[in-house]
Amino acid sequence: MTDLVFETERCRVRDWRADEVERVLDLYRRWEVARWLGSVPAAMESIEQARIMVERWRSSNSEHDIAGRWAVERKADGVVAGTVLLVPLPDGDGEFEVGWHFHPDSWGQGFATESARGALAHGFEHGLEEVFAVVRPDNAASIAVCRRLGMAELGRTSKYYRTELELFRTTPAP
Ligand SMILES: CC(C)(COP(=O)(O)OP(=O)(O)OC[C@H]1O[C@@H](n2cnc3c(N)ncnc32)[C@H](O)[C@@H]1OP(=O)(O)O)[C@@H](O)C(=O)NCCC(=O)NCCS
Repeated sequence: MTDLVFETERCRVRDWRADEVERVLDLYRRWEVARWLGSVPAAMESIEQARIMVERWRSSNSEHDIAGRWAVERKADGVVAGTVLLVPLPDGDGEFEVGWHFHPDSWGQGFATESARGALAHGFEHGLEEVFAVVRPDNAASIAVCRRLGMAELGRTSKYYRTELELFRTTPAP
């Protein structure tokens, strides 16, 4: 059985694999990545934490048709560039968010925007009528991704993640 969720021009987006915990740790242990994530940002500290995370993602990915936290594999060299996610917003009313967490060795090459565009297409093909993104106001790199995706800027909200975030929204192309 394939673990592929969708493909883009340069990426395969698929389930994280159990033998990729070291890459997960190397991604989430970095403060330049972790500082932007969650209500209370915290860098990952151990391979055991990475293992638990990957198991949790694999299990929840297998339970959902639409939602997931997936590995973005570069077709050219097989390196996993990062995570793209499409999940219900915590504290939301069922609305979905798209998100991106990439390893610094894969920044500045368009992989986040490309895979997020694929995640949005995947969500819309499965019936979503809108998708949001929430970004810390000083996270310029992530706000730039939202803009590249053509997402509408709705201003600040404190509804999600118990902190003030910039809210973006997109809908299927007519
Ligand atoms: C947010 C994050 C994913 C953005 O990564 P990114 O690589 O800058 O974003 P993109 O994939 O859109 O890449 C765009 C850059 O690639 C360049 N690029 C190079 N080749 C490209 C190509 N073939 N196609 C598109 N863009 C390309 C663009 O010019 C742009 O460069 P610039 O930033 O110098 O203008 C990354 O900074 C990250 O993982 N940060 C930590 C985690 C985080 O903040 N997550 C978001 C929480 S809300």
